[in-house]
Amino acid sequence: MKIAILPGDGIGPEIMAQAVRVLNSLGEKFELESADVGGAGYAAHGHPLPPATLALAKEADAVLFGAVGDYKYDSLERSLRPEQAILGLRKELGLFANLRPAILYPELAGASTLKPEVVSGLDILIIRELTGDIYFGKPRGVRECPDGPFKGEREGFDTMRYAESEIRRIAHVAFQAAQKRGKRVTSVDKANVLETFQFWRDIVTDVHKDYQDVELEHMYVDNAAMQLVRAPKKFDVIVTGNMFGDILSDCAAMLTGSIGMLPSASLDASNKGLYEPSHGSAPDIAGKGVANPLATILSAAMMLRFSFGKTEQANRIESAVKQVLAQGLRTPDIYEAGTTKVGTEEMGSAVVNALK
Ligand code: NAI
Ligand code: MG
Repeated sequence: MKIAILPGDGIGPEIMAQAVRVLNSLGEKFELESADVGGAGYAAHGHPLPPATLALAKEADAVLFGAVGDYKYDSLERSLRPEQAILGLRKELGLFANLRPAILYPELAGASTLKPEVVSGLDILIIRELTGDIYFGKPRGVRECPDGPFKGEREGFDTMRYAESEIRRIAHVAFQAAQKRGKRVTSVDKANVLETFQFWRDIVTDVHKDYQDVELEHMYVDNAAMQLVRAPKKFDVIVTGNMFGDILSDCAAMLTGSIGMLPSASLDASNKGLYEPSHGSAPDIAGKGVANPLATILSAAMMLRFSFGKTEQANRIESAVKQVLAQGLRTPDIYEAGTTKVGTEEMGSAVVNALK
């Protein structure tokens, strides 16, 4: 179980240090190897994704990624900016399935903008296809409109497309994830208007034949947006395309109120994956020892579950996180009156202690 540890820049190294402590306290034989990425890659090797870092990420069984994007690299040309590292890793590792759980711990119900009874106990998983759809379909561009009422004017155009194998593989990820959770998948599409998503619906329905223990429901994206805000707890696993997933996953993230709590996974065809907190490098608080390490620690738990099949260890980490929240420990981003404010390292120590 070789894990590439890529802390990155900004708060990345601070939060990663705590996730590493948690991994090391599980009593498992992990081989952890660190490498520079993002701003740290640029500072040490002149490139956000140095060849040795990419080689390590490819050779490891899983990648645990911190965050990149410190403002001090803002003036660099686009190809050298820290964010290129994460785009490069997604492409080079073939990571097509983005999994974002949106969990609201009952202790943090006050952090959401929605009423506590609507979101308290929320535990849903959004699976977004990451490499296809209108974001990458060709042809695209700006041209002279060839026909219709706007003939002769300039027009912008993109192409929505999904190959059958792309839909099949993301559907398999969704059904398999649901088997380990609430055994329900909601496939979100726009089959009433778009050919691409009628095809999506047909293929997902076909893949479902292999997973009769999972319930499948289809929902149009506009209705899904409404239901996510009205009654989000009705969902278990949501699977959708790149564009709908982009929008719905941000919406679902905000149901929980705090970005410092949200892990994510990006998986390839063999469940090899890159795991990272949903937030960025938070340059405004970097170096102050106050960043919330829980999103990164929970990303490590996702790694154990999805890449290594270590469900029990993943559950242990998640229980430990619940325990420290129940103890009233809070980093400043989730602090409320009546709780105990702690820093990054203290929060990490509390999780390690809870694991014992
Ligand atoms: P951000 O997520 O870094 O920060 C947004 C706000 O949330 C800030 O006020 C920050 O202090 C707070 N925050 C974020 N993580 C936190 C944590 N663990 N604990 C406590 N507070 C936390 O997003 P922002 O400010 O838009 O971007 C900063 C940089 O990060 C940019 O350069 C951006 O491109 C990059 N970025 C990198 C990502 C990645 O590494 N995958 C993802 C998103 C942004
Ligand atoms: Mg987005």
